[in-house]
Amino acid sequence: MAVTILGIESSCDDTSAAIVSDGILLSNVIASQQVHEEYGGVVPELASRAHQQNIVPVVDAAIRRAGISKADLSAIAFTRGPGLIGSLLVGTSFAKGLSLGLRIPIVDVNHLHGHVLSHFVRQSPDDRVPEFPFLCLLISGGNSQLIMVRSYNDMEILGRTIDDAAGEAFDKCAKVMGLPYPGGPHIDRLAAEGDPTRFRFAKPHIPGLDYSFSGLKTSFLYTLRDGLKTDPDFIERNRADLAASLQATIIAILLDKLEKAVRQTGVRTVAIGGGVSANSGVRNAVAAFCEKHGLEAFIPERKFTTDNAAMVAIAGYFKYLDGKFCEYDKAPYARVEI
Ligand code: KG4
Repeated sequence: MAVTILGIESSCDDTSAAIVSDGILLSNVIASQQVHEEYGGVVPELASRAHQQNIVPVVDAAIRRAGISKADLSAIAFTRGPGLIGSLLVGTSFAKGLSLGLRIPIVDVNHLHGHVLSHFVRQSPDDRVPEFPFLCLLISGGNSQLIMVRSYNDMEILGRTIDDAAGEAFDKCAKVMGLPYPGGPHIDRLAAEGDPTRFRFAKPHIPGLDYSFSGLKTSFLYTLRDGLKTDPDFIERNRADLAASLQATIIAILLDKLEKAVRQTGVRTVAIGGGVSANSGVRNAVAAFCEKHGLEAFIPERKFTTDNAAMVAIAGYFKYLDGKFCEYDKAPYARVEI
């Protein structure tokens, strides 16, 4: 009989449900929350309430679009953390209730594992997946990590950010330029028309494989401050060049440690994941880096870069195959490492 997993993701501001059957994705439904836009960031209480409204229709749609019925499900996988605790509670409680009703087990998923394992979401049996071991550069709004992935359930963080994440560097710099939240995609769009060599921003000198983005943020602010002293329209006039130079610096910082990690570990396969892996410049730079060094690159489809339940369902599928189920007394957690 097929192993069919319902995945549920509710860690931040996307309510998502997906069905994976024998490792193949049958459906992936995402309801994004617009309610946060006017606040310039995610408001946790509003996120929880929106999840509460969305979860039943989203799960229902995922099951319908997959062409299955609830009786076909083998288990329910849900994101247990890290994330916003109120949001996680909605998905966790829903998964527990549904599993009791259907008399099937639950599998808890670490959201970060989900991002790494999104490369194993196959839409057809012929889809290419990475071979172990591989390095994953996980870059999102909350994390910037270099992860050694030895198997589906064996991962080690080799480097992490000691301050801001790459996504925060994009978003915070975009905010001072007056761009809407989240600023990452806006910087990406503007950067395409700008000169990446026009401005120079500070790059960190952190030993080992750890990242730092706070110095870059400060030097970006100084550039704006100095520019505005002589020209009140400095930001407006230089939008594209500022965006392109900022993006180029973030990419240089990311690639520097990635190259170091590849040299240290000798891996032959590199993957990227998380919201920032949607960035065109990052995608091109990682692809070019891998090509230059004869490495195999895994760059996710854009729809799998941001939060989605397909990655939760596939991570749950591999845990299910390993017999790793979750007890009902387990609560969600706001913070955790891999
Ligand atoms: O993984 P994700 O959806 O969730 C969080 O960790 O919150 O990542 C969101 C982050 C935000 O910082 C957003 O600005 C960034 O991903 N992002 C981008 C792009 N698309 C999303 N950053 C740069 N370029 C993009 N195209």
